[in-house]
Amino acid sequence: MILVTGGTGYIGSHTAVELLSAGYDVVLLDNLSNSNADVVDRIAAISGKKVPLFVGDVCLPETILNIEQVYGIPDAIIHFAAYKAVGESMEHPLRYFRNNIDGLLTPLEKALIWPSCRGIVLSSSCTVYGSPNQLPVSEESPILPAASPYGYTKQVCEEMLRAACTASNIQAISLRYFNPIGAHPSALIGELPNGVPSNLMPFITQSAIGKRGPLQVFGNDYHTPDGTCIRDFIHVVDLARAHVAAVERLLDGKATKGFEVFNVGTGKGFSVMEVIHAFERVNGVSLPFFIGPRRPGDVEQIWANPTRIEKEMGWRASHNLDDMVKSAWNWEKALKSQQ
Ligand code: WQD
Repeated sequence: MILVTGGTGYIGSHTAVELLSAGYDVVLLDNLSNSNADVVDRIAAISGKKVPLFVGDVCLPETILNIEQVYGIPDAIIHFAAYKAVGESMEHPLRYFRNNIDGLLTPLEKALIWPSCRGIVLSSSCTVYGSPNQLPVSEESPILPAASPYGYTKQVCEEMLRAACTASNIQAISLRYFNPIGAHPSALIGELPNGVPSNLMPFITQSAIGKRGPLQVFGNDYHTPDGTCIRDFIHVVDLARAHVAAVERLLDGKATKGFEVFNVGTGKGFSVMEVIHAFERVNGVSLPFFIGPRRPGDVEQIWANPTRIEKEMGWRASHNLDDMVKSAWNWEKALKSQQ
């Protein structure tokens, strides 16, 4: 059984679908702070399997203990449960430190004493690289001071795993995501943050469908070709499949050492304006937007060198930007039709 913390969230739910498709038993743990329990029914509609959802706080030891008593010891844990908005972390840093660090520490302490648990896959982030001086970033790129408390919590979580793997025989794989966007082709699951979206793509789709006002582009005075930030956008289904590959690596004993890190990106960067234009072109819609000031904590530009995960796990992104913006729009339209 694979325990997926944050399992009703955006990436967690897509990963649950891919795990089920690969034949794994899955248990979801979530506190529903940024997702809805009906995701379980949507996962069932896609996969034909009803996965158990344990609603609780991953920071609390009793939550993990209850899961063990009810569902048994997981063969591996995929840890998504964390707050993940860069801008929000600038406003509420202590909330991010508490939730994101305790949120890993508690299951990690348990995993260390679970005899049959092979290890943990960590939802990490390219934000661990801070503001890189050289691009693309590889796993050997320097870990610079994080640009936000969010990025700092991911750096701390990686170091906690590295130390735990050195001090024990547990194994861990840290997947450093770039920018996940898009939705499952069924349009039954997708990104649906509670409240006003902090991330680019859900704001774009909600603005385009009229749920929000115009998109504010956070700055166009960066040192990039069109002045807007550049990111390595990756389709959420590709990202989910990278987690299945990582779990297989742990369970098949192919992990070469205790703690491994992998970039999970496409290797190509697109600017905010390029994403806006792709969204309009592919979906035949006009997006209302305006240029506002820079957002504190934003990194100017970053994209991945993904050769290590391609070489070690045989994984590579298969969706392009057009696929991403089309699936994101299909998801938003499906949500509107359900209102
Ligand atoms: C992308 C770009 C904004 C909103 C995300 C996740 C984080 C991590 C890294 C996984 C930036 C601009 C955004 C808006 C805008 N992923 N933007 N107007 O900050 O790169 O971080 O990817 O761990 O968890 O949050 O993503 O989508 O917030 O911003 O102009 O309304 O879009 O300035 O340049 P970010 P994002």
